[in-house]
Amino acid sequence: MKQKIKFPENFWWGAATSGPQSEGWFNKRHENVMDYWYRTQRNDFFNGVGPDVASDFYHKYKDDFAMMKQIGMNSFRTSIQWSRLIKDLETGEPDPEGVQFYKDMIEEAKKNDIILVMNLHHFDLPIELFEKYGGWESKHVVDLFAKFAKTAFECFGNDVKYWTTFNEPMVIPEAGYLYGVHFPKYVGKGKECVQVIFNINLASAKAIEIYHSMNFGGEIGIILNLTPAYPRSESKEDLEAAHFADDFFGRSFLDPAVFGTFPETLVHTLKEDGVLWDATKEELETIKHNTVDFLGVNYYQPKRVKAPAMEHDENWMPSWHFEEYDMPGKRMNPYRGWEIYPRAIYDIAKNVQNNYGNIKWFISENGMGVEGEERYRDENGKINDDYRIDFYEEHLAWLNKAIQEGSNCFGYHAWTAFDCWSWNNAYKNRYGFIAVDLNDQKRTIKKSGEWLKKVSEEHGYEYDLDQMKG
Ligand code: BG6
Repeated sequence: MKQKIKFPENFWWGAATSGPQSEGWFNKRHENVMDYWYRTQRNDFFNGVGPDVASDFYHKYKDDFAMMKQIGMNSFRTSIQWSRLIKDLETGEPDPEGVQFYKDMIEEAKKNDIILVMNLHHFDLPIELFEKYGGWESKHVVDLFAKFAKTAFECFGNDVKYWTTFNEPMVIPEAGYLYGVHFPKYVGKGKECVQVIFNINLASAKAIEIYHSMNFGGEIGIILNLTPAYPRSESKEDLEAAHFADDFFGRSFLDPAVFGTFPETLVHTLKEDGVLWDATKEELETIKHNTVDFLGVNYYQPKRVKAPAMEHDENWMPSWHFEEYDMPGKRMNPYRGWEIYPRAIYDIAKNVQNNYGNIKWFISENGMGVEGEERYRDENGKINDDYRIDFYEEHLAWLNKAIQEGSNCFGYHAWTAFDCWSWNNAYKNRYGFIAVDLNDQKRTIKKSGEWLKKVSEEHGYEYDLDQMKG
């Protein structure tokens, strides 16, 4: 039987995107790593489509905010591109055109009563900083990030009240240094990966320190992909593998963000393996004293793990301690190749509630990328994405259960508002509440957009709890 799933009246209903995935290259001073990667290796991207035009948010933001309001969004996250805002990467001097664009865009959000969450880094390091200094392996780049952050706060600190330092920082070392799926496409650079983890934690803490010292009266957090690691079995070996995977992929950013310290078991293991990061006492102090005001959590799929095989790579890799477990019978999103497991949202919420002081947090991304959505377009031009509505309702039901039990969650952002560009997959899988036609950049609201409006106006939706499969 259906019942009302009710959320708090002031709950955030919205969606996220990022500068590099939505704006397009227009009028930028610098290239970021994705721009460079696309310019030099187009074939890596689905159908050869890149971030050069993307969803043209650079020109269309006014219409886009109006549409976001129309579908009931009261909040929205995007990011400032370092490669757009900053003219001189060494000093942090801003580029007037970049400043103007972001000022106008922020103003437009305000006009539409949309709370803006502004993120500072969404995998988009300026390529020069990789070429000159080795990117996130360099502590100098950490300092340059702090200068960029300071400039961003100086320019927009009075107008933006919610900031985040990094989006899914773990993706940078993981995808770029271990598995070769993001720039710089390194494979098996375990030790460097560990240093990058430390350096990005330090960069985040430095930005937080600067923001708090400037007393704008707003809040600053970080966006983490907190995918729980579920062990194959309750055996000691599988449980240890899950513990390591959670330490390495989750707590390596979560603990410093909330407590200012790294998990002892992770530090111990990395030390024993001879790959612990280089860190000074002063740097550890900076991390210790500059923690977040709130958390954003991106959730798409769980991590399933098992004990590692006896044989492993000679060079250190996290696979010394765990392996991915391909669980038979799992529910899949075949287009993205990701497992669908809504219950994990509940487990994440309980973890934050019970083990992280019930710090306030929100779901900052959750969503379902689907290929070939045009086949669901009806005679009136609307894409009927019922599968996406089902996906959201099931995830939200689990989130709601956690909120009823006291989880301090203040909002839910989907990925994404209007279809946007995606790393490698380009525009293959669409995620938006609003469809974007790449031929003419025309936008049309999908059925899920209408659904969101109703949910946001009614602070919930009717749902049969028997549909919660887990
Ligand atoms: C998140 C990222 O990991 O997932 C987004 O923050 C990304 O940038 C989203 O686009 C969806 O993943 P993908 O690879 O399908 O674009």
